[in-house]
Amino acid sequence: MSDQKFNPLLESELSRLDAAHVTKRREIIIDGFSGSKALINHQKYLIFNSNDYLGLRLHSVLKKADHQATRKYGTGPGAVRFISGSLRVHHDLETALAKFHGRQAAMVISSAFAANLAVLTSLVRGSGTETLISSPVLVMSDELNHRSIVDGLRLAQVPSDRKAIYRHLDYAHLDSLLSDYVGKFPRVIIVTDGVFSMLGQVADLAFIRAIINKYESRYPEGIVLVVDDCHGIAAFGPTGRGTEEVSGARADILVGTLGKGLGSDGGYIVGSQLIIDYLRETASTYIYSNSISPGSAASALAAIQLIESKSGTALLVKSAANIKLFKALMLKAGFVFAADSVHPIQPILIGDTAKTQTLSARLYDLGFLVTPISYPVVPRGRDELRVQISSAHTSTDIKKFVRALISLNN
Ligand SMILES: Cc1ncc(COP(=O)(O)O)c(C=O)c1O
Repeated sequence: MSDQKFNPLLESELSRLDAAHVTKRREIIIDGFSGSKALINHQKYLIFNSNDYLGLRLHSVLKKADHQATRKYGTGPGAVRFISGSLRVHHDLETALAKFHGRQAAMVISSAFAANLAVLTSLVRGSGTETLISSPVLVMSDELNHRSIVDGLRLAQVPSDRKAIYRHLDYAHLDSLLSDYVGKFPRVIIVTDGVFSMLGQVADLAFIRAIINKYESRYPEGIVLVVDDCHGIAAFGPTGRGTEEVSGARADILVGTLGKGLGSDGGYIVGSQLIIDYLRETASTYIYSNSISPGSAASALAAIQLIESKSGTALLVKSAANIKLFKALMLKAGFVFAADSVHPIQPILIGDTAKTQTLSARLYDLGFLVTPISYPVVPRGRDELRVQISSAHTSTDIKKFVRALISLNN
């Protein structure tokens, strides 16, 4: 490679991204955590932008499980699952995940991103070399689905005439698309985020299920509902089962992460034994990539057990109380939310890009971490501060944060 030829191209692309304010490479380096605070340059910052919704990653039970597994198995899996990377702790975690979600089976994979690629490529194309599923499939996807779903559809090479993108949370649109395509495709995959991470909105799975029931008999090979509930599981719902619990219906295939509310690292898929067996045979991101480390598997297993205990329920109750307090204080102070969310993601509508970026920077100066979200992630004029509430926050943390917001807004 000639640097002289290639570097100007890279530099110009980086400048373009900088100019568009969509750069991701500037990082805030965190030196440690204590409860709801991060240590940065020897100063403590209250975190309002973490997906660790129940504060589990610092929990002593998870840390102990992680240490014990590392002592027993070492620090890494050493091989992919079907070679010599299937450890007892992976199996125990899969058993626990299947039971937690009331499914026959679970499959742990390196990340939820990899899980979405696995599900979509396998369901659409089979293994790629053998066409286990041969008939053409139509994929229906919410327009604001997570990037891993968008990339999954690209990797599955779904052509545009086999893809129907429905308007965000617009189930009348989904219904009319299903009606339009009757007789044109034998089977359909509907894929949606459970919780949409920019606004904390929740997919109405009961509504989607009712629409599926309406059309199921008209698609000879059926309609499969895939839900990515990375932000929902271990984040909300009385028992932490996320969107399925809150919206009162179930996915056929559910994708989750171990790296947000469950305080660990990695991803997983739950469903019927047949679906999981099929994915283990066909999904490249599972077959050709390491699973998670023994420590991550053990801490995730400990997280599941904790969530099912009284302490887990207490954390979920605390999180719900914190959300309620934050919303009440913010509404009283006259702030407007970009969406009315019942989830720990609470989007404060600011509207203007420069103002949103400045507000986030000023909050940082005052000791708070909170993420500004601007176009193209949200529509122009809908810039927001995406606040994430956790059960690790105390009511004092929340009051301090709201006071800071009020002082900067005046
Ligand atoms: C909805 C959704 N799906 C998938 C992912 C990917 O999760 P993981 O970090 O486990 O790959 C994320 C994380 O950003 C997400 O928000």
